[in-house]
Amino acid sequence: MNSEVAVARRRACEEALKRVLELSPHIVGIGTGSTIDMFIEVVAERKSDFKSKTFTCASLYTCYRLSEKGFNVLHLGSATSIDVYVDGADEVDPELNMIKGGGAASTLEKVLAYGSRYRVYVVDFTKLVKRLGEKHAIPVEVLPEALGIVLERLRRLGLNPSVRTLAAGKYGFVIADTRGVIVDVRPPGEWSPRELEKLLKSIPGIVETGLFIDLADEVFVGYPDRVEVLKRFRGKSP
Ligand code: A5P
Repeated sequence: MNSEVAVARRRACEEALKRVLELSPHIVGIGTGSTIDMFIEVVAERKSDFKSKTFTCASLYTCYRLSEKGFNVLHLGSATSIDVYVDGADEVDPELNMIKGGGAASTLEKVLAYGSRYRVYVVDFTKLVKRLGEKHAIPVEVLPEALGIVLERLRRLGLNPSVRTLAAGKYGFVIADTRGVIVDVRPPGEWSPRELEKLLKSIPGIVETGLFIDLADEVFVGYPDRVEVLKRFRGKSP
């Protein structure tokens, strides 16, 4: 990450933190990734503001980092509803639909986003795209036992699947915390995120996809000199 991007992300994290505090949540859901790592650092600098709050998280790694910093962490399986969710994204389109899962955690990230009353995303300016898929493949999590059949189906559908294998310090497939295998798909030409989501979710063995549709309320976009807030329902407060 170059320093311009790092400054932009830090600005966005600081503004998002202010937003979270304004919403006075009891339970805060937290996603995964390098932006979220930075957000946790920013939160840790304001630890006293989070004394009475509890976090729940989308990955073992995030839970561990929060516990390490002395925050209260609730196991996701025990959380019935979340007041505010904060996460990063790989790509954000003008409708605030997103690709997520660059860190192989999008299944639980989606569960958390779905179960939250308000969803705030933190990105830097490099994450904005005109159309999803400009820069990233779409991750899908596949049950290990379904891998061969799902891959064949995805190939036949022309979705150019590849099993993700590039984990540092791990030879072989990338396995999510939720035990699925991460497969990246690259649909050719122009495609509709809604239609693709529907198609992928119709294949037995696909646990979840990294397409996040209608799951963002606000996106804090950091630039080196400012932060822009994109809202799903312009003018409507949470
Ligand atoms: C984790 O699986 C992802 O959804 C991340 O939230 C997303 O990839 C953004 O990651 P970075 O903040 O590391 O760019």
